[in-house]
Amino acid sequence: MYTSKISGLGYYVPENVVTNDDLSKIMDTNDAWIQERTGIKERRHIKKGDGNSTSIMGVKAAKIALERANVTTDDIDFIIFATLSPDMYFPGGGVRVQDMMNMNTIPALDVRNQCSGFVYAISVADQFVKTGMYKNVLVIGSENHSGGLDMTTRGRGVSVIFGDGAGAAVVTRSEEKGSGILSTHLHSEGAHAKELSLEGPSTEHWVPEIIAENPQEDIPYYPYMNGQFVFKNAVVRFSEVINEGLQKNNLSAADIDMLIPHQANLRISQFVQKQFRLSDDQVYNNIQKYGNTTAASIPIALTEAWEAGKIKKGDLVVLAAFGSGFTWGSAIIRW
Ligand code: ACO
Repeated sequence: MYTSKISGLGYYVPENVVTNDDLSKIMDTNDAWIQERTGIKERRHIKKGDGNSTSIMGVKAAKIALERANVTTDDIDFIIFATLSPDMYFPGGGVRVQDMMNMNTIPALDVRNQCSGFVYAISVADQFVKTGMYKNVLVIGSENHSGGLDMTTRGRGVSVIFGDGAGAAVVTRSEEKGSGILSTHLHSEGAHAKELSLEGPSTEHWVPEIIAENPQEDIPYYPYMNGQFVFKNAVVRFSEVINEGLQKNNLSAADIDMLIPHQANLRISQFVQKQFRLSDDQVYNNIQKYGNTTAASIPIALTEAWEAGKIKKGDLVVLAAFGSGFTWGSAIIRW
């Protein structure tokens, strides 16, 4: 049995910065409300014509990750692409990355696990590498939320939270025992699928049906979020799944050098930080700058933390996510 490690990281965010004040010009919201509830100051939105899409941003992040992993596209055996906002309804983003990066005919798999998509994708990569089937797996989390949000007062409870961007990691076979990805832990609870969801267009809500059955004021093709219910579940599940990972490896919270929580909401991250009695240096947050970028949030934050020198060889790094599904998970990594 091999071990697996993250050998390279990269991220990309669109240049277009959208501040809370910018949003307050198009909907009834304000900087104080958004910062107080979520910690978010600004986010990035793809601008029409800037050449970005979910898969294109993924490619930009992936190129940086490959370079840092010191591998070329020829070395990559498998692509795993996590997103809730693919360029097309089908096929997914993985095959588009495969095409744009000219990666022969290597397999590409899309993971549809929303905010915990990157943790799920890392877990899948980890299994393929540890069993020896693949040596280098490219894992991407990318989202283009902005085009699909209700940017009116009606949608303000959701639309102020989300931003666009992509992050990528190369998961590589290693022979070093006791380091790399030590374990991953995944869960779901489909009973709450509708509490954070986008119902249509889908096979349950085809477009003609939506138009026929819904008045314009109540169209189900914008995301819906039961914010307080999500918040309450998130703080519990984050803690459970971090504890599960620590216990599995005979570790305790005191061993954590860096926790990278999915950037759902700064208040959720602060709640978790308090529960585990971690210092500000032990938790990385960048939701202030990028909002919630769903499957991209952990790889963007992980890359930034690594670039800033906050993650060093030997450190215990914990990734943890919770989101729509509900789905949640953690990854325990000895860097
Ligand atoms: N600007 C101004 N006012 C707003 C806005 C806004 N953007 N959005 C909602 N309001 C208003 C509401 O209309 C409501 O007004 P009312 O009292 O007159 O009815 C009031 O503010 C309070 O609304 P709530 O929805 O009750 O506000 P709450 O305190 O619950 O905060 C929030 C909303 C921030 C979404 C919160 O519930 C939350 O953080 N939930 C966690 C969900 C989360 O973080 N999701 C991220 C995505 S999921 C994930 O990644 C796990």
